[in-house]
Amino acid sequence: MAEHKSLAAACRCVLTTQEPREKAAIARQVADDWRHGKLARDSGAPTDWPDRPARPLKPQLLPPRDMPRRKMSGQSGRKAQLHALAHIELNAIDLAFDLIGRFVDAPLEDDFITDWMRVGADEARHFLMLADRLVELDMDYGDLPAHDGLWQAAFDTRHKLLARLSIVPLVLEARGLDVTPAMMEKFQRAGDEKSARMLSIIYEDEKTHVFAGSKWFLRLCNDDGLDPAECFRKQLKNHFGGALKPPFNIEARDEAGLPRNFYVDAV
Ligand SMILES: [Fe+2]
Ligand SMILES: [Fe+2]
Repeated sequence: MAEHKSLAAACRCVLTTQEPREKAAIARQVADDWRHGKLARDSGAPTDWPDRPARPLKPQLLPPRDMPRRKMSGQSGRKAQLHALAHIELNAIDLAFDLIGRFVDAPLEDDFITDWMRVGADEARHFLMLADRLVELDMDYGDLPAHDGLWQAAFDTRHKLLARLSIVPLVLEARGLDVTPAMMEKFQRAGDEKSARMLSIIYEDEKTHVFAGSKWFLRLCNDDGLDPAECFRKQLKNHFGGALKPPFNIEARDEAGLPRNFYVDAV
């Protein structure tokens, strides 16, 4: 990859790369370049930022309502589950670099960028891990249709960092913490230890992503003199159609630094 000087341009390169494994490789390279001081933070917000990331020809993307219903039982159900997770991780790569690039001029120190670079590199590793696991199970990422609703939250929150942090890490990734333990158990029960182990690695990493979301959300509220719980609920109302879905994994959410008063009586 050619060396980028502008941080936003490097992030843009992740978004505009179509081939998933190449996207993941560039994501890791960009995170590495940031770590080694090779990228300079842009002084202004980027112009003509892409509204959507480039997507490969496969998988076919379907509106959520047209997605075939999956049975989790049986090997084909578990493979479909891994495929769906790989798709989520691919979107998560773009979400991290979209956040950095779009909000490159946020009034926050470089630690903010460093945190999301680490998240982006994690998501790339998660995607590659799941894509490799699919190959071991005689399947490729792209072999099944995938959900096209995942980018909507990014698009809906493209103008405001507080909104983005609320909906992506604090709603969607926190939801991942709620549902993953049961999923790990299903793989374990089916004797697929290897996939279960991968899910547990992802689960631990995702806690740190929610943690980064909480940390910077609280910081922005503090800087702007806003009440965090009130502000979070306002973002939910404006940018997240449905109510939060219990049951919540309170233990994991606590570990991830997500204040209980954000969601406990927001149901
Ligand atoms: Fe992930
Ligand atoms: Fe994540």
